Amino acid sequence: MSDSASSPANPAASPERDATERAHLDFTRRLSYGDYLRVDALLGAHQPLTGAHDEHLFITVHHVSELWLDLVVRELRAAMDLLSAGVTDTPLKMLSRVVRAQEQLTAAWSVLKTMTPADYLQFRGSFGEASGFQSAGYRMVEILLGNRNPTLLRPFTHRPDLYGPLDAALHAPSVYDLTLRLLAARGLAIPAEVLERDPTGPHGEHPEVLAAWLTVYRDTERYWDLYELAEKLLDVEDNFRAWRFNHLTTVERTIGFKAGSGGTSGAGYLRRALSVVLFPELWQVRTSL
Ligand code: HEM
Repeated sequence: MSDSASSPANPAASPERDATERAHLDFTRRLSYGDYLRVDALLGAHQPLTGAHDEHLFITVHHVSELWLDLVVRELRAAMDLLSAGVTDTPLKMLSRVVRAQEQLTAAWSVLKTMTPADYLQFRGSFGEASGFQSAGYRMVEILLGNRNPTLLRPFTHRPDLYGPLDAALHAPSVYDLTLRLLAARGLAIPAEVLERDPTGPHGEHPEVLAAWLTVYRDTERYWDLYELAEKLLDVEDNFRAWRFNHLTTVERTIGFKAGSGGTSGAGYLRRALSVVLFPELWQVRTSL
């Protein structure tokens, strides 16, 4: 006697059929997963220069990071368009997504940290002067958030398609500049020198901006949306710091205190970058409350 559940006479009940249910199996005339997502092109970008086992990991973590950075840029830009139009609620959703994407960016370090210095040295010689210092995605995130330094755009002059958008963003307001404009539109006293500042440099802490945030934080019911926006921006800066700190630790354990492939002092340069403050009054307001 045969088992009727797996009998060829009853194919509808076979385990294989159960597993696929009514899945589409013929893609001659349908758009498949791989074709829609262009997985071939995505994986085709993975071109190790050596046969070293860990170069695959190194490239993967950079690729994944670039994809998340691209998403962060898109979400920040969308949030900034709405903030420019005076909308405060929908940008919170976009900034929440930025915060989650940053968590993914930071989580990637734990995978990369499985690579030892000896593993890294097997392929380090292959990529010459290439460095994350030349990441257009990262620089765009920094510029949109307000960490601005025209010198950091110089590595992109040979690529007008990258330089153009970075330079345009450098000359436009940051997410914090737009937030301060919203405060001004609500009648809070933001000085003209802050509202009309040169966007190509960083925003410096200003006592009157701090006073405006104090008003918001002391009357959260009245200014609830501005207060929520401020706390969301603080989450973004908090995560930005966490990424930087983990990058520095990964660098120290991989190359120690050697100079970077991008030409800086390496860990020393990255340690100095940890002192950057994007939204100074949002940190200071806690002291003053
Ligand atoms: C073991 C792996 C890594 C090492 C040893 C390393 C090393 C360094 C060093 C030494 C610098 C300073 C600039 C220079 O090159 O002179 C730097 C900058 C940078 N790296 Fe990495 N890095 C690693 C992984 C990554 C990954 C996975 C990313 C992801 C995108 C990344 C993104 C960046 C960025 C954006 C900068 C510029 C930071 C700034 O200017 O503030 N790095 N890296």
